[in-house]
Amino acid sequence: MSAQRTSYHGQWSSRWIFIMAATGSAVGLGNIWKFPYMAGENGGGAFVLVYLACIATIGLPVMIGEILIGRRGRQSPINTMRALVADGSHWAGWRFVGWLGVLAGFLILSFYSVVAGWSLSYVGEAASGAFVGADSATITALFNDLKGDPWRLLFWHTLFMVLTIGVVARGVQSGLEQAVRYLMPALFLLLVVLTGYAMQSSGFDEGLAFLLRPDFGALSADGILAAMGQAFFTLSLGMGAIMVYGSYLPGDASIPRTAATIALMDTTVALLAGIAIFPLVFTHGLSPGSGPGLIFETLPLAFGAMPGGVFFGTLFFLLLVFAAWTSAISLIEPMVAYLVENRDWGRVPAAVASGGAAWVVGLGSVVSLNVASGFDIFFGLTWFGFADYLTSNIMLPLGGLLIAIFAGWVMPRSAVMEEVGLTGLLFRVWYGLIRYITPVGVGIIFLHATGLIGG
Ligand code: PHE
Repeated sequence: MSAQRTSYHGQWSSRWIFIMAATGSAVGLGNIWKFPYMAGENGGGAFVLVYLACIATIGLPVMIGEILIGRRGRQSPINTMRALVADGSHWAGWRFVGWLGVLAGFLILSFYSVVAGWSLSYVGEAASGAFVGADSATITALFNDLKGDPWRLLFWHTLFMVLTIGVVARGVQSGLEQAVRYLMPALFLLLVVLTGYAMQSSGFDEGLAFLLRPDFGALSADGILAAMGQAFFTLSLGMGAIMVYGSYLPGDASIPRTAATIALMDTTVALLAGIAIFPLVFTHGLSPGSGPGLIFETLPLAFGAMPGGVFFGTLFFLLLVFAAWTSAISLIEPMVAYLVENRDWGRVPAAVASGGAAWVVGLGSVVSLNVASGFDIFFGLTWFGFADYLTSNIMLPLGGLLIAIFAGWVMPRSAVMEEVGLTGLLFRVWYGLIRYITPVGVGIIFLHATGLIGG
């Protein structure tokens, strides 16, 4: 049994860089685009509460488990699972977790890149002054025009994918690290500025109340599933992104402290985004449940009205693109690492092939916003909606569940203890969470959503 593997792909230069990279992966469209609109669609406060509970009792324990598995295996998730299975002569089928993750990563990146494309396009809109003095009808029309034009969407989707492939191709230290060092703190600062702006708007109290006052009547079983799915999605859990990043983590870094820092930063960014957006929604009489277009229909109003709005608006969408970028690279890193390890490919062809495949799948999302918008793939969902639903609500929680069972029940306790570096009460709390609370919690929410238990 070896705890002393080294990664073939290199290592982060420090624990701090790992935190930046993993936070870069975690903080993305999930926080700023998805969290607010999901909270809006699912009644606000109650959704937020379930989401926070899932982060604390499921997300954080799974993140610790996922990082520790990655660091112990020191390879792509597929090979890491294979190595840990061999260490303990466990059932070879556990490798499936790695493959499930690779598939989920593709599917997520395919639509993620389309939404990141919206953000790219909005950098140009903001810079050209398109938001200045605009009312909500104009802003909504601007968004609908973009969504309705497959060629524009295709252009931005392609550009974003090229950017992603470019960074991934350059590798761990020169590619991934540089991208996150300065951009994440800048995004954070800008969100604080926007929140400050929202605090002065007339809808602030109403917006804040919507976000914080739980109305459980507004939360369906599917809403609870969505809150759990969002906890996995926002922390980049359950598909191997955090596992592969963990495989580059120096051996002496504390995994629990690191994971807690990442989860805290990620949650703060999501809440800040919500606090910045909902007051604007109510100030301008918009609907909180308007769906995936929410931030693109609200924030431009703020930028259009505030002094220096052209500057702040351009900067905001630019930073949103960067946040999406640092997440997107982690979505294909598991596949790229695998191709490099097993097929002896260079990083460049591996990145091009992985990103190219996700680009092709993304074409489905491009057309489901316009020409194929009436095309029902699954229970009223377009391809775009389906890819999002399937990955966030099913594949990531399932992957997280399997990771929890593997770390909590399959790996030898001594190996887990050694890697996680916790002792005494703290170890027992984490171990209890990952062995019992995570599997039972995910299981109950799954069953509840399928209608097998509860109302
Ligand atoms: N966590 C990212 C976000 O919130 C999305 C993501 C999911 C990235 C899964 C990697 C893996 O935007």
